[in-house]
Order: sequence, then structure tokens, then C-alpha cells
Amino acid sequence: MTKRHLAALFLVLAMPAVALGVQAEIKLDDKLSSMKKQGHVGPVIYPHAKHEKLFKCNDCHPKIFKEKRSENNINMKANMDGKYCGSPNCHNSPKAFPLYECAKCHTGVK
Ligand code: HEC
Ligand code: HEC
Repeated sequence: MTKRHLAALFLVLAMPAVALGVQAEIKLDDKLSSMKKQGHVGPVIYPHAKHEKLFKCNDCHPKIFKEKRSENNINMKANMDGKYCGSPNCHNSPKAFPLYECAKCHTGVK
């Protein structure tokens, strides 16, 4: 690798996801029908930019979340089983607010 290649690689690695076209806040609503059926919660507005400040890209991608909209099967059973949002050190641990605080993730909580 030349110095120029290295510099280019560094730039790509240091770039925030928003520069790659990732929204700062991603609306997660793949499971809208299930939310409507249960009737207590609405879509999640996921603060991606905020999470980028707390973790590295590869803390989450691709092991916990595939980095493509709608390619994950995020649901509350999986979250409670320690996957996705409920992964170790995340919203199933003392390090972040817990999964029972529905309104911290979901909009339209009744
Ligand atoms: C840490 C964030 C977080 C918290 C806290 C949270 N959820 Fe969720 N929940 C999600 C995400 C993300 C999804 C997937 C959204 C999608 O892709 O449609 C989801 C999906 C759901 C769904 C639809 C899928 C399914 O599992 O049936 C329901 C219903 C739901 N949540 C209810 C709740 C309720 C009730 C609470 C509180 C007891 C809660 N959630 C707390 C993040 C959270
Ligand atoms: C704390 C976990 C976490 C971190 C850290 C994180 N992401 Fe994500 N990322 C997510 C979640 C959750 C999604 C939404 C996945 C979905 O839609 O099912 C996502 C989605 C994406 C997407 C897809 C966006 C789209 O619209 O298709 C890309 C690309 C991405 N992330 C890149 C990055 C990059 C680059 C970084 C580091 C700068 C990063 N992510 C850091 C959790 C994270």
C-alpha cells in the first residue's frame, strides 16, 4: 500500500456514517403491523449518530446488526433474549436504560 492509499483508507475509516449516507436518526418500523396489533407502541426513531459516538462501527456491524435497513429481524423477544438492542453491555445491562422503558425507544407509547 502506498502512503496515498493509506491516507484514503484512514479517511474512510474515520468518516462518520452520515458521510456514507446513513441518517443520523433511522426510523425503525419494519414491525409496524405487530406494533399496531399489540396497540401500545409506535415506530422507533433510532439515534444512529448518537450510538456512533459511544461505539465503533464494528462493535455493532455486522455481528449485532447487519448494516442494511430492514435486513435485521429486530423484535422484543430477541431484544429480551440478549440480541440486537438487548445485546450484552447494551439495553439489557446496567450500562444503558433498560428494555422496560418503552417510551425511551418507541414513539406513540400508550
Ligand atoms: C432499547 C430500545 C427499545 C425499548 C426500550 C423497547 N423497544 Fe420495542 N422495539 C425496539 C426495536 C428497535 C424494535 C423493532 C422496530 C422495527 O424494526 O419495526 C422494537 C419492536 C417492538 C414491537 C414489534 C415487534 C414485536 O416484538 O412484536 C413491539 C410490540 C414492541 N417493540 C413493544 C415494546 C414494549 C411494550 C416495550 C416496553 C416494555 C418496548 N418495546 C421497549 C426497541 C425497543
Ligand atoms: C450501537 C450500534 C451501532 C453502531 C455503533 C453503528 N451502527 Fe450502523 N446501524 C445500527 C442499526 C441498529 C442500524 C439499523 C439496522 C436496520 O435497519 O435493521 C444501522 C444501520 C446502518 C446502515 C444502513 C443504513 C441504511 O439506511 O440502509 C449503515 C450503512 C451503517 N449502519 C453504517 C454504520 C457505520 C459506518 C458506523 C460507524 C461510523 C455505524 N453504522 C455504527 C447500529 C449501529
